[in-house]
Amino acid sequence: MAQLEQIAAPGSEWWRSAVIYQIYPRSFADASGDGIGDLPGITSRLDSLKELGVDAIWLSPFMTSPQRDAGYDVADYRDVDPLFGTLDDFDTMLNAAHARGIRVVVDLVPNHSSAQHAWFQEALKAAPGSPERARYIFRDGKGKNGELPPNNWESVFGGGMWERVTEADGTPGQWYLHIFDPTQPDFDWNNEEVREEFRSILRFWLDRGVDGFRVDVAHGMIKADGLPDYTPPADADSMGGGEANVPYWGQDGVHDIYRDWHRVLAEYDGDRALCGEAWMPTLKQTALWVRPDEMHQTFNFPYLMTEWDAKALGDVIRESLDEFGAVGAPSTWVLSNHDVVRHASRLALTDDNPQGEGIGPNTPHKPDTAIGLARARAATTVMLALPGSAYLYQGEELGLPEAMEIPDAFRQDPTWFRTNGERYGRDGCRVPLPWEADAPAFGFNETGASWLPQPADWAAYSREVEEKDETSTLSLYKQLLAVRREHGFGSGSLVWEDAGTHAVAFRRGAVHVLANLGTKPLELPAGATVIVSSQPFDGTALPVDTAVWYTKA
Ligand code: GLC
Repeated sequence: MAQLEQIAAPGSEWWRSAVIYQIYPRSFADASGDGIGDLPGITSRLDSLKELGVDAIWLSPFMTSPQRDAGYDVADYRDVDPLFGTLDDFDTMLNAAHARGIRVVVDLVPNHSSAQHAWFQEALKAAPGSPERARYIFRDGKGKNGELPPNNWESVFGGGMWERVTEADGTPGQWYLHIFDPTQPDFDWNNEEVREEFRSILRFWLDRGVDGFRVDVAHGMIKADGLPDYTPPADADSMGGGEANVPYWGQDGVHDIYRDWHRVLAEYDGDRALCGEAWMPTLKQTALWVRPDEMHQTFNFPYLMTEWDAKALGDVIRESLDEFGAVGAPSTWVLSNHDVVRHASRLALTDDNPQGEGIGPNTPHKPDTAIGLARARAATTVMLALPGSAYLYQGEELGLPEAMEIPDAFRQDPTWFRTNGERYGRDGCRVPLPWEADAPAFGFNETGASWLPQPADWAAYSREVEEKDETSTLSLYKQLLAVRREHGFGSGSLVWEDAGTHAVAFRRGAVHVLANLGTKPLELPAGATVIVSSQPFDGTALPVDTAVWYTKA
């Protein structure tokens, strides 16, 4: 499509200002009716994303996988899992998206493969010290007979980070490293063969026409020399956010890999982009991923993790603009994804129910749905006025809360199993979308099957219902995206304004943005004309947990 072929002037590449919508394929739309979403389902619903007004979609993994971690365990990087369709279905979806002016970003999982990957199967059969084992991180165990793991590292999903194998002769043998589940062995990125394989995988998808990659666990691929023991503090974040100098997160060596990939993408036309998933403790460290010759974007997780507090929110926005600006990259903004409690619930979490545990039937003090939704709408109203690129996660445009009552028997997140039910994990943000109020599975498919049960009250959140309601979250998102586009809010800079200690206030050109994070209504200046507000109000006193875009006479 002509729109996609234009060569952008330097500094105006599409990814600098794009709104990118994350599709979680297994829960978006299910054309086959087996209860798991698929690529033809996505193609059939692209018009709704065009109407919403997003610039690009990012698809979580749909490659061949035994689905031990919902596809983040890839057995063949160059094919589509039959659950989701075929490579032809992918090409059809890609062309249909491009025909609508929507770019397509795919998820690449380079830190680890599935244990079913041909290379890992070969490694298991091969001898210690062989080239087959050298593609992964195999080590001899400690102890008299190698019965103890090589070090004390703890897996992100709970339990140890090492699994012992049985050698070809039937004796207990070496151990291999897995930052995540034992079915997700880590590659050894010091091995040139691994590097060459991934250059080739990048080209495979670039040749098919993808516009970029979201890079999974982009901060984990290089481990500190000698694999030294490490014990995280009790309150550490399992993905590394919060802790400096972890021997498996954010090691310097990862940056060379991205410089190399940057050069691969530069061989192609059309401003292809890399976006890294790098959970680092500070924005300064996060910005290292987007120096001019590395990735183009990285997720702003410090922003996502910020609590509903005016000072904290103002500070993280300032720091993001400063730190990303210092390396010449746009900031990104993100409030929800498939790994965190949906922000319509998260923003009402309390200290005794923190982010990171998931929410389930036995969670005490569940977040209040009305407060959460009001805050989520206000938070998004602030986010979509910020300069840089914004990520949306499917369903947030409907105001979906976390599904908090999923019965244990349906749970699939390895976190739940690896912690023996201590942490509910992430299933609550992954429930299939409601499209129509009265259809089977709320229109997710025609059969009513659904891999995770949808809460009975989700009819009210269905796209069909919200489309007809001017005050719905969907209508708010459409308005915000249209005005953002009209005023070019994705680029340029902002001017801070003072509206007291419980507000966040700034100006984008002639448009003022004001969010009330306090406990009392806030007066709007005389002569203010509201353009969009996160809740209906009388146009004078801005209610608590509400944000507004307005102009002044
Ligand atoms: C990333 C993904 C997450 C997955 C993990 C292991 O954090 O976003 O869903 O479980 O990597 O691949």
